[in-house]
Amino acid sequence: MAVPEIPIPGARGYPMVGLGTFTIFGQRGAGDEVEQAVKTAIDIGYRSIDCAWVYSNEESVGRGIKAKIDDGTVKREDLFITTKLWDTCHRPAIVRESCEKSLKALGCGYIDLYLMHWPFGFKEGDDLFPKDENGKVLFSDHDFVDTYKAMEPLVADGLVKALGLSNFNHKQVDRVLQIAKVPVTNMQIEIHPYLSNKKLIDYCRSKGITITAYAPLGNPTRTWAGTDEPVVFDEPKLQAIAKAKGKTVAQVCLRFLIQRNINVIPKSVTPSRIKENFQIFDFELSEEEMKTIWSLDRNLRFYGESIKRREEISNKTPLQHQQQNTRCKNTKDEYSTRRKRDTRHVNIKHKRLHINRRDQWATGADFGRPFVTQVANGVVILDCVRTTLSLLQLPRGLEERTIVV
Ligand SMILES: NC(=O)c1ccc[n+]([C@@H]2O[C@H](COP(=O)([O-])OP(=O)(O)OC[C@H]3O[C@@H](n4cnc5c(N)ncnc54)[C@H](OP(=O)(O)O)[C@@H]3O)[C@@H](O)[C@H]2O)c1
Repeated sequence: MAVPEIPIPGARGYPMVGLGTFTIFGQRGAGDEVEQAVKTAIDIGYRSIDCAWVYSNEESVGRGIKAKIDDGTVKREDLFITTKLWDTCHRPAIVRESCEKSLKALGCGYIDLYLMHWPFGFKEGDDLFPKDENGKVLFSDHDFVDTYKAMEPLVADGLVKALGLSNFNHKQVDRVLQIAKVPVTNMQIEIHPYLSNKKLIDYCRSKGITITAYAPLGNPTRTWAGTDEPVVFDEPKLQAIAKAKGKTVAQVCLRFLIQRNINVIPKSVTPSRIKENFQIFDFELSEEEMKTIWSLDRNLRFYGESIKRREEISNKTPLQHQQQNTRCKNTKDEYSTRRKRDTRHVNIKHKRLHINRRDQWATGADFGRPFVTQVANGVVILDCVRTTLSLLQLPRGLEERTIVV
């Protein structure tokens, strides 16, 4: 089956469905399982594979690709390989070295699309999630604009065909666009029925940037999910549409995005699911069905704070969790009181709430009231907040005032 493609300047067409390979944080699919998934996917007809240095499995992906090239199923030029520069490699001088490491691991000669994974850097080194002795994330101060500049020569030198970004907000995209000599061709962000991300998508498209949806199924097996969090697959309206179409909820989710002209990269290491996720071009959702799915949007993110959240989980006993959650509720009340008094805080509150789920008040406690106070003083405690800043789409001025403490 011919999969539609979106044009990417400088690269071959980007197939609208690809295989995701994110398997860290305890998700299924280390080593051989990913290698096998890549082989299965290519046999089924997938030609796009989404990777990242941080997934720590590029060698396995590479072995899968090599096996399928060696047995004649595909040629390298049939494939569209995406990978991402990790946060510990934002220092311009090591960008090339990092790209070369990915290339070596993947063994694919060149990368079709190279993305900056996040708009913030971590402390350089072998530890992919560096922390201090108190378990706080250690960030670096490299400006992503300089990192992007360092990525640009990779295109001219043939290591990479095209560049893109991931998890940037529109202000951050704009800063890159102001200096970019090599076009930003694609933006990879979280999108699923509970998170339409419409404004950011519209903005990117107005700048000629194509869109890829990660977690297009709302990652139903994510290990950091709160117990009271909604699961996309349990959504009755999606189940009804799936039933009416004779399709699965996963296929409906993916089709919804394809009809919005968004590339999808569902991850699976289960052969039947890899196949299922590819069979999305033999049916169409009606306008009414599209509207119904649009109506599910609740601006709910499943990613973004997972790094922080993961640390919280590993650093705390269940009792500490509970105490923190209680404190958070108080924080929420304080926000409500402040809201009546101070418009700037209202804005911050709203931005914050967009990404809050009940279990994430645990994170909110860390930068609830102190966050607001520090913002008012022009100081943000970055090791708590910077991840969030990238997602909150706060005014740029606020970011510029941030100080690492
Ligand atoms: N740029 C970024 O920051 C970023 C962040 C996250 C993800 N990504 C990329 O986007 C890809 C997809 O996102 P994701 O992995 O988080 O979430 P996802 O694709 O929404 O969900 C993946 C999970 O759903 C299960 N699954 C897949 N197909 C299914 C089906 N048809 N029925 C039932 N369950 C199914 C898989 O389980 P099994 O594997 O056990 O089958 C897997 O654990 C990632 O793999 C990665 O390549 C990028």
